[in-house]
Amino acid sequence: MKFSIFAAAAALAGTAFGTDAVQGAAEGFAKGVTGGGSATPVYPSTTAQLISYLADSSPRVIVLTKTFDFTGTEGTATSAGCAPWGTASACQKAINKDGWCDNYQPNAPKVTGIKYDKAGVLGMTVGSNKSLIGQGSKGVIKGKGVRIVSSAKNIIIQNVRFTDINPEYVWGGDAITIDGADLVWIDHVTTDLIARQHIVLGNSASNRVTISNNEINGASSWSATCDGRHYWGLYFTGSSDMVTFKNNYIHHTSGRSPKVAGNTLLHAVNNYFYAIAHAFEADSGSKILAEGNVFQNVDAPAQTGLPGQVFASGSATTNTQCKTYLGHNCEMNAYGSSGTLAGSDTSFLSNFKGKNIASASTAAVAKNVVNTAGYGRL
Ligand SMILES: *[C@@H]1O[C@H](CO)[C@@H](O)[C@H](O)[C@H]1NC(C)=O
Repeated sequence: MKFSIFAAAAALAGTAFGTDAVQGAAEGFAKGVTGGGSATPVYPSTTAQLISYLADSSPRVIVLTKTFDFTGTEGTATSAGCAPWGTASACQKAINKDGWCDNYQPNAPKVTGIKYDKAGVLGMTVGSNKSLIGQGSKGVIKGKGVRIVSSAKNIIIQNVRFTDINPEYVWGGDAITIDGADLVWIDHVTTDLIARQHIVLGNSASNRVTISNNEINGASSWSATCDGRHYWGLYFTGSSDMVTFKNNYIHHTSGRSPKVAGNTLLHAVNNYFYAIAHAFEADSGSKILAEGNVFQNVDAPAQTGLPGQVFASGSATTNTQCKTYLGHNCEMNAYGSSGTLAGSDTSFLSNFKGKNIASASTAAVAKNVVNTAGYGRL
């Protein structure tokens, strides 16, 4: 008896602090996403239970109250690989996954005896109608990511940290994969020490996605550019994707922050880019509107010479052209000890017409993103 009264009080306390429910609502393209909705929260206690709740066919609100450490759960593998960026200790090395070293890096020095954790290589499958949320700053997933694929729909991941996924080795795993989905909201997530992509939208159509208030932390002792900054940051390359990317703090990366290609309409608004070699890679098929962002210590806000379409909110006159399609005048980007983001293509702005569009603040307001982005800050 005593026990159940205590449990009920604890449950009430949780509700009172509002920690066991999704906070707020998605802005922009994934507006309307409900995830697990009002399903009674479940509290996995083991990694196996977490895998099961994420994958099953019930709508679920899955609450993480501790670190789920996947390292060792699938054993380790020892394999051959290569060192395309050199054998110095600061350089990432690559696993010879599917013959990648043999096929694409035939001249790279060979490396033997790479020992990596098998759980990291492939993320957990997430079914439709799921909310995965962390309680306070307790929601940590170590050594494994998630995969939102195969037409999964209506998913929220909020207030979770993904960390320590074979960071020494390319092909050791991604943190968040979205590849064939719709209505996905990634919010207040932190990613750090990841082998490959922090967030990847693969070639299939991922439709409506909002990525907001996340910290993409690329600081690592193992980098493809051998400089303490992770190269494989964000990769948005779906065949029919609309991505709202707002209030994110992206730092200590050397490229792909983000790479955009396929057929992707990207609204990058009020993000804080810091200590980055090059941020945007606007590749073929990308349509990028970047407004109200801060670039601080970013050598090149975009890689030059790529064919994508970019509108970079460069002048008060052209920024008024946004209003017809987005409902607001675009905000200027701001630069501190950084290059300038080029791009004045307004021909694709009509793609925003009639869609759910995130609001925009000034870049001065976006400077505060460093204090609000990431997990444990709701
Ligand atoms: C998700 O929820 C929607 C709306 O309730 C429902 O139509 C759909 O079948 C659900 N999907 C799954 C896989 O349960």
